[in-house]
This record gives sequence, structure tokens and C-alpha cells, in this order.
Amino acid sequence: MVDLIRDAVSLVKEDATRQSITIEYDYQEPVLLVLVDRFQVQQIIMNLVGNAIEAMQGIDRPPLLRICIRQTADRQVLTEFIDNGCGLPVHDIDIFDAFVTTKKNGMGIGLAISRSIIEAHDGQLWAETIRTLEPNLVSYSGHQRLR
Ligand SMILES: Nc1ncnc2c1ncn2[C@@H]1O[C@H](COP(=O)(O)OP(=O)(O)O)[C@@H](O)[C@H]1O
Ligand SMILES: [Mg+2]
Repeated sequence: MVDLIRDAVSLVKEDATRQSITIEYDYQEPVLLVLVDRFQVQQIIMNLVGNAIEAMQGIDRPPLLRICIRQTADRQVLTEFIDNGCGLPVHDIDIFDAFVTTKKNGMGIGLAISRSIIEAHDGQLWAETIRTLEPNLVSYSGHQRLR
């Protein structure tokens, strides 16, 4: 899973570098092996990381993406992509619905497709707003988990 994530992130690395985004990894080896469709998971991760990069465009603090990989008590792998970007849109829209986008050129289907793929593999994908990574940066950030 770690290699798979690192590979997928490297594919969008150029955008991240252009915005001087710091990418931090947080995991402990050995990470449980998971059986996945490599290509599908790569597409999903690229969208999650791409969303994080887009959310951090034009913010007035150093952009930070933290990727945490954890093993849960029920032997699943929980992966979190946490950014300190603009935060999730207001509550009355569901970002997992198809064609929901807040971007001028967005398609709004990335998360909808990602969730259906993950659920077809007995996983879950959700997003939540959490307290900030560092106390004196922004108060809330967008955050997604893939498990
Ligand atoms: N990390 C994030 N931070 C803030 N908003 C996000 C984040 N990820 C997704 N979103 C919101 O969810 C919407 C849908 O995302 P997605 O399905 O990938 O479509 P798209 O990227 O084409 O807009 C985005 O337009 C954005 O409003
Ligand atoms: Mg997207």
C-alpha cells in the first residue's frame, strides 16, 4: 500500500512541487498487505491528492499534505489524506454526489466514482473537517480517508 500510494503521488508531484507543497508521510512498517486493483486505486489516490492540491491553491500559509496509513483493529488499512487547504464546502452539498463541483473546470465525478469503487471492494470513503494540523495555522481543513 505504501509503494502504491507513493507511486500515485509521484504522478501528481509536479503540481505539488509547483505550489511548494510539503508532503509528509506517517506510517509504521510493516503495513498490512491489501489486495486491490492497482490501477483503480491509483486513479482514486490521484484524485484525492489532486483535490488536496487544488484546495491548497492560493492559501496564505505553507501548504501541507499529510498522508497517514494505519492498520485498524479489524485488520483493515485506513489511509488519510489531510490537507490544510480551503476546507470542505458548506454542509448542504454532498461532495460525493455525481457532478457536484466547486471548481470552474471541475467535473465533479472523481469522488462519486471513487466511493463506488471502494464500496464495491467492501471499503469506505468519507471526508470530514478536522481541527488543524498545527495549532496556529488554519482552524479547519479538508480531509479524506480511504479504507
Ligand atoms: N481536499 C478537499 N478540500 C476541500 N474541498 C474538497 C476537497 N476534496 C474535494 N473537495 C470538494 O469536493 C468537490 C468534488 O470533488 P471531485 O468529485 O473530485 O470533483 P472535482 O475535483 O472535479 O470538483 C470539489 O469540487 C470540492 O468542492
Ligand atoms: Mg477531483
